[in-house]
Amino acid sequence: MKVIAIGNQKGGVGKTTTAINLAAALTMLGQRVLLIDLDPQANTTSGIGLEAEGNDTLYPVLLGHCDIREKIQVSRIPNLSIIPSAMDLAGVEIEMARSDDHLTRLRGFLQGLKPNDLFEFCVVDTPPSLGVLMTSALAAADEVIIPLQCEWFGLEGLAKIVHVLEQIRESGANPDLKLEGIVMTMYDARTNLARQVVEEVSTYFPNEMYKTFIPRSIKLGEAPSHGKTIFEHDPSGNGSHAYLAMAEEFLSRRAATGPLLASS
Ligand SMILES: Nc1ncnc2c1ncn2[C@@H]1O[C@H](COP(=O)(O)OP(=O)(O)O)[C@@H](O)[C@H]1O
Ligand SMILES: [Mg+2]
Repeated sequence: MKVIAIGNQKGGVGKTTTAINLAAALTMLGQRVLLIDLDPQANTTSGIGLEAEGNDTLYPVLLGHCDIREKIQVSRIPNLSIIPSAMDLAGVEIEMARSDDHLTRLRGFLQGLKPNDLFEFCVVDTPPSLGVLMTSALAAADEVIIPLQCEWFGLEGLAKIVHVLEQIRESGANPDLKLEGIVMTMYDARTNLARQVVEEVSTYFPNEMYKTFIPRSIKLGEAPSHGKTIFEHDPSGNGSHAYLAMAEEFLSRRAATGPLLASS
């Protein structure tokens, strides 16, 4: 199982939309996926049509009260399991900040799932802040995907998160953390700005930037209000095509660089 965090400390850039739809697309391509909602705003949870309370979340797991396996729920989507979130998860930030191992606790629990071979991928949606939950996700991840909105301020945010990844590596909490990719979201080919931002990112991150762009799409914006993935809400639209193409690109990059289902 590879742990893939979807991260960007900026809100509203498409993290949650990417977490839900990348996870769903990977299952359509034959992968077993665990989707973890680590944002107390619980948008991934509601976006997939679930409701949860504090006890259903990682909260008791992170405080050492129960095993992470007890919190994994099967979803209606074949091969997609989820650990949901709820507002109460915010409390964990305060509780965990007091402990010395707060950065690596989640890492320990996810490492514990790896030998079970239940999932090929664990996709973690993260909150838009650099608090304990977000940094725990980065410390626990094998790889990070950064969704980047095609606007000028997005580039500042990118520089910042790239710096945070470096800090996590240097802290010793996760020396091998890899920037898997940067995916351009809410892309509108008609604007010069979007093209300029893409140009800039591809100059600095030629290998990391996904060739697939996620278009700005009304259907992608609507889907969470129906509690549905884009594949359920608008299966033949351009949002579905884009996230499926992104998942294919994600898998083909790994096929090019090593065994797809490396056991660790
Ligand atoms: N490609 C897109 N086209 C149109 N709306 C989008 C797109 N991606 C996300 N949205 C909408 O933009 C808002 C922010 O997206 P979200 O995925 O929740 O970002 P984050 O998790 O980074 O805060 C949400 O209302 C979402 O439905
Ligand atoms: Mg979100």
